[in-house]
Amino acid sequence: MMLPHDVPTILLADGATMPQLGLGTWQIDDAEVADVVISAAQAGYRAFDTARVYRNERGVGRGLRGCGIERDRLHVTTKVWNDDQGYEETLAACDRSLERLGLDYVDLYLIHWPAPTKDRYVDTWRALVELKRSGRTRSIGVSNFLREHLERCIDATGVVPAVNQIELHPHLQQAELRQLHEQLGIVTQAYSPLGQGALLDDPVLTQIARERGRTTAQVALRWSIQLGNVVIPKSSNPSRIAQNIDLFDFELSEDEMAQIRALDRSARVGWDPLTAPF
Ligand code: A2P
Repeated sequence: MMLPHDVPTILLADGATMPQLGLGTWQIDDAEVADVVISAAQAGYRAFDTARVYRNERGVGRGLRGCGIERDRLHVTTKVWNDDQGYEETLAACDRSLERLGLDYVDLYLIHWPAPTKDRYVDTWRALVELKRSGRTRSIGVSNFLREHLERCIDATGVVPAVNQIELHPHLQQAELRQLHEQLGIVTQAYSPLGQGALLDDPVLTQIARERGRTTAQVALRWSIQLGNVVIPKSSNPSRIAQNIDLFDFELSEDEMAQIRALDRSARVGWDPLTAPF
């Protein structure tokens, strides 16, 4: 099935599907985000990513109701925040997120961070298994998980996360983790696919963009799409929102993909999962 703008759908190991491109909403204010969601839906976006800690679930919900697209054609992700980890706490946190979103289910519910010093992510994962069983989410996954965190959850429950959402862009390519995901049947979702904007003056990406008559952002996003990732660029600007979904009528060559592969420098713009201070 093709979505508007020919966004491909990705099959998850649990049998559900999701669009390969969605809108990231981190750092978009609750008061502003409904209009941004509506503008993205008009540009062809059908997937929207929020989280408890973004404090914009109510606004995202207003945008989803106002965008004129039926619920079953939308894909909505939210995440349990670190303070709500633990079995009972997570069940309650999901209900509160659903209430704020004004939805009776989300499509994907994620553990936002492993928060290894709290060491509650395995119990939290058990809660996500129950949330899926009870229909409050269609799919379950994690975010910012490393090999050891994935393996502990899988060993404890036998349930493999459908998705691991991680920081991933040409300066932080995550080849090892992507390979592990492939072995385990986990879909890789790339957050900060533009390095929060830091990639936009990369000379190699800029040169490829110039030759192609595209923007640097489009080259970075297209590279991630061609790796098979789900990508969720954030923008609050209608013309950049439209630009970021206009990726499906060109293909980077093997040579261009190799030039971008050589840009990896393990440079995070966000927190390291092992040392994040929350
Ligand atoms: P804005 O919201 O004003 O468009 P990431 O998704 O990697 O976190 O990057 C988000 C940052 O990149 C935001 O600052 C966003 O600003 C900016 N951005 C998003 N899309 C584009 C684009 N197509 N061109 C330039 N900057 C962009």
